[in-house]
Amino acid sequence: MNTVQLKQMSMYFPPQGPAVDVDSLWIWLRDIMTLTKTTVLLGARNNPWLNDRSLVETYWAYETNPSRRFNITGVGRRRSAQNHKILVAALKSYFDAAYDQSSDYRDSDIAAMTRATGAMQREAGFLPTDIAAAHFVIIHGGLVSAVPTTFWAIAYVFSDPALLARARQDALAAVTLAPANEENKRRGYKREARILNDRLEVLCPLLVSVLRETQRLVAVGTLHRRVLEDTEISASTDDRTYLLTKGTAIFVPVFPCHRNESVWGSIPDAFRLGRFHKDKYSYKRGAGNESYTLDVAQLPPVSSTQLQRKAYIPFGGGKEMCPGRHLAVAETLGTLVMLVLGFEITRPGGSIFKLPPFAAPKMSAQTARPHQDADMRAQIRRRKGWEDVVWGVKEE
Ligand code: HEM
Repeated sequence: MNTVQLKQMSMYFPPQGPAVDVDSLWIWLRDIMTLTKTTVLLGARNNPWLNDRSLVETYWAYETNPSRRFNITGVGRRRSAQNHKILVAALKSYFDAAYDQSSDYRDSDIAAMTRATGAMQREAGFLPTDIAAAHFVIIHGGLVSAVPTTFWAIAYVFSDPALLARARQDALAAVTLAPANEENKRRGYKREARILNDRLEVLCPLLVSVLRETQRLVAVGTLHRRVLEDTEISASTDDRTYLLTKGTAIFVPVFPCHRNESVWGSIPDAFRLGRFHKDKYSYKRGAGNESYTLDVAQLPPVSSTQLQRKAYIPFGGGKEMCPGRHLAVAETLGTLVMLVLGFEITRPGGSIFKLPPFAAPKMSAQTARPHQDADMRAQIRRRKGWEDVVWGVKEE
């Protein structure tokens, strides 16, 4: 699924030729990922989001207001509920027409998962409205955190030239270059860069560290649990015990776990690659950002590693841990590889893209959003030496 999505995303990136100016890097990426992820799941021919682009905005407007689970403001909830209705109605038309079971060769791009779940749900007597509502949850799960996480990883890298240079070195290991096929040659491309998608976590240790440090900082959500049996827990730091009584609702805020100085070392609010990338390397931040040099000596003592593992919960934990985490990691790493190697992202005019501040966190979101007033105008263009490249994925 991820392979298909990466190929599709590359088609929305600027082709050879002049740079493309976008009003907001966030909205640019958000829209591309929404169109490609829904297409991967539902197929291109009948994807409601592709056929009616206004649904992209409707989805993100739905997502921006408090979710129906958190009835914090009546107005937000009503607007959110209306948008939810529109999106589920669009999906209902898709499932009413049984497009998910289509045997037309033009629909062979529908995800096997969509076909299989649709068939199972019908067999179990689900009505198209229920099938649509269930598939909306899958689409929502796939977009709501993955899109902002990918956005922040891109923003951290492109707002820091020194980090970008290292990321480019790292990403080189993840592609093979071959002559373009005849069709692409006719379109003016000479080479095809194939991403070694299945091995990115091994081939690109620095990009993995970028993603981990990004997730440490942008995870602002709350995990929810209910105590099933009276349970006593104790803190490892003192001999106190706590009784969690059956039926109690527990909210675990991720933010303080990810920013505790005794776990993460000094200045836990700062993006420091060395917290995860433990080679001996001195790292100077680029123009416009705070300057510092980092090496292993600045990292928390090795004995903290166990504590860091326990404290690091961007995908939650235990039985409820995010089932989409491998897909999410693969898609962010693949997108980073393509963008850092093949493209320049700057502000219009060519100066360095500036990291936007976070919007105020909200209870229904696991991942920070950029502040709505931030200037995220950007210019995206092919990188010198990579103009003639068409992007693909190496399938093994
Ligand atoms: C960077 C991207 C993502 C982040 C940060 C993220 C984070 C999370 C978190 C924190 C939870 C709650 C886990 C818990 O309570 O312990 C969760 C649950 C879930 N996630 Fe993700 N997620 C991401 C991507 C995805 C993707 C791509 C999908 C699907 C394609 C997905 C599907 C789900 C589902 C279905 C659940 C509910 C699991 C359950 O209740 O048992 N997520 N996610």
